[in-house]
Amino acid sequence: MSELDFVASIAAKLPMMTIADMLGVPESHVETFTQAGDAIVNAQDDTLRPPGVSAAQYMYQQIQVLYEIGIDLVQFRRSHPSDDLASAVAAAEIDGRLVTDEEIGSLTVLMSVAGNDTTKQTTTLSVLALDRNPDQKAWLRDEFDGRIMQSIDEFVRYSSPVIQFARTATRGLELGGQRIAAGDKVAVFYCSGNRDESVFDDPHRFVLSRDPNPHLGFGGGGMHFCLGSTVARAELRALFSEMFRQLPHLHVTGEPEFVHSDLFHAVKRLPVATN
Ligand code: HEM
Repeated sequence: MSELDFVASIAAKLPMMTIADMLGVPESHVETFTQAGDAIVNAQDDTLRPPGVSAAQYMYQQIQVLYEIGIDLVQFRRSHPSDDLASAVAAAEIDGRLVTDEEIGSLTVLMSVAGNDTTKQTTTLSVLALDRNPDQKAWLRDEFDGRIMQSIDEFVRYSSPVIQFARTATRGLELGGQRIAAGDKVAVFYCSGNRDESVFDDPHRFVLSRDPNPHLGFGGGGMHFCLGSTVARAELRALFSEMFRQLPHLHVTGEPEFVHSDLFHAVKRLPVATN
């Protein structure tokens, strides 16, 4: 039996490679880029940081790495345009001026943080959920192409990888019996919305055929709705399609390991076997 950690061997690889590819990061820098993106999301994990380096210091160092790669790349694309995202950023104008280095650096970090662990958590938690719900796995396998996009919505609802964000109320209102004043900070718990029993029948069950599935896993609409949701859906489709085809016997062999911190709760390891 060939055993591996699904997170390290499969789930962790796809998101940063996809972002690097979209941006147009040169082959020689992809590994550094990928490692820095992973290190930012893992900075809270004491076992993954070099000894004596605080989480904040470590995060700052990795942010600098991503900043430098992003800025160098966009500056290079200003004189050597291509069909990648860096070239689009290089040519972009805001109010008649080019995008600044700081904005390029921030965009590189934003994409690397927003698009990395979210996708990794969704694939890993969905592999676990499929393993624990063999009837659902069989339903998807029976007609993969026709059912995968609908299943992806349930993958995202059920795993809810983004737990919460803060928002500042721009006007006063009453919500769920609570009075919110303009200027109040409000915590938005996407995971709670995704288990709302007044919206979803049996919300704690993993049901791939849910229809409709008005989940909030990518946000609730509006200007901050996940910018990468289409990319994420394409990644999930590609990964599950290849897994079902190439690793039809993949199954979970032990308990997942989670990392908890003040900031997040994430799956860190998932033992699986491929035969
Ligand atoms: C399954 C994977 C993903 C999930 C569950 C997810 C979830 C989210 C959520 C909940 C938000 C906040 C939305 C809101 O509050 O309205 C968000 C924002 C964002 N996401 Fe994603 N995301 C995923 C993948 C990606 C990918 C692959 C990228 C880019 C490559 C990406 C880029 C962004 C960006 C840039 C924002 C900020 C949008 C803004 O504030 O204007 N995400 N995502």
